[in-house]
Amino acid sequence: MQPGRKVLVMGATGRLGVAVARALAHRGDRAILTARNGPRLEALSVELSRPELPAVPFVCADLLDDAAPEIIFDGIRRTVGKVDDVVIACGPFPRTPFETLRRDDLRQTLAVHAIAPLLLVHALAEDLASARGAVVALTDAGVTRPYTNHVAYLTAKGALQTGLRALAVELAPEVRVNMVSLGIVADPEADADPLRMHRLATRSPLGRFGTAEEVVHVVLALLDSTWATGEIWGVGR
Ligand SMILES: NC(=O)c1ccc[n+]([C@@H]2O[C@H](COP(=O)([O-])OP(=O)(O)OC[C@H]3O[C@@H](n4cnc5c(N)ncnc54)[C@H](OP(=O)(O)O)[C@@H]3O)[C@@H](O)[C@H]2O)c1
Repeated sequence: MQPGRKVLVMGATGRLGVAVARALAHRGDRAILTARNGPRLEALSVELSRPELPAVPFVCADLLDDAAPEIIFDGIRRTVGKVDDVVIACGPFPRTPFETLRRDDLRQTLAVHAIAPLLLVHALAEDLASARGAVVALTDAGVTRPYTNHVAYLTAKGALQTGLRALAVELAPEVRVNMVSLGIVADPEADADPLRMHRLATRSPLGRFGTAEEVVHVVLALLDSTWATGEIWGVGR
């Protein structure tokens, strides 16, 4: 791929989203940032902006809001006009113990991880097609090898995977849609139990958690993989 593409990064304030946005800027692509946290988006925009280029645009939107896909779409039209590619790196990792699982847990995780990203890709389909673009989404190894206390999250990631595979067919051959299925990069619950962290890390054949840079490497490779669609690339599993 030629550099200089306009790439929407969903979840741009997250551990992995920030790393993806930085890597895109570093190789000469133009990131468009979205997440909820305005000050963090603004700080990243300042960090990535270059004096000779327009400021890196950002759009604040809460994906729990039904209007979020439209808000992000309008933000893109207002700032960069169109996007060429999309990276989906958004959403929380809520602990939902099975005993207390509620309808809202499922509704909210499905909204953020699956419904909003799928509707946004749908809305951007013409942009992506005219740019011969790509969608790359981060998903979780737990979809095919589930773990406890995360039924809502894993259900939502499963919906995202199935939805994006269907979109890969709908949008072919102009747009490629691929996913990265991750083992653990950073374990949010690690501080609470270092032994658990060690146990989880050694469960992977490579014996450790991944780094954001290792995830970025795969995301960029899939953005550039012009002969792959509907694929799920497993790393760190
Ligand atoms: N890290 C891992 O080990 C791991 C493993 C497997 C899969 N993944 C997946 O990789 C992706 C990135 O993970 P990460 O570790 O970077 O997560 P993270 O640090 O928790 O970041 C999550 C991102 O999603 C945004 N977000 C959360 N709720 C949102 C909402 N309601 N509306 C809009 N944006 C929302 C957050 O930003 P705001 O708070 O600013 O909105 C943030 O930018 C996620 O999809 C995650 O499921 C991660």
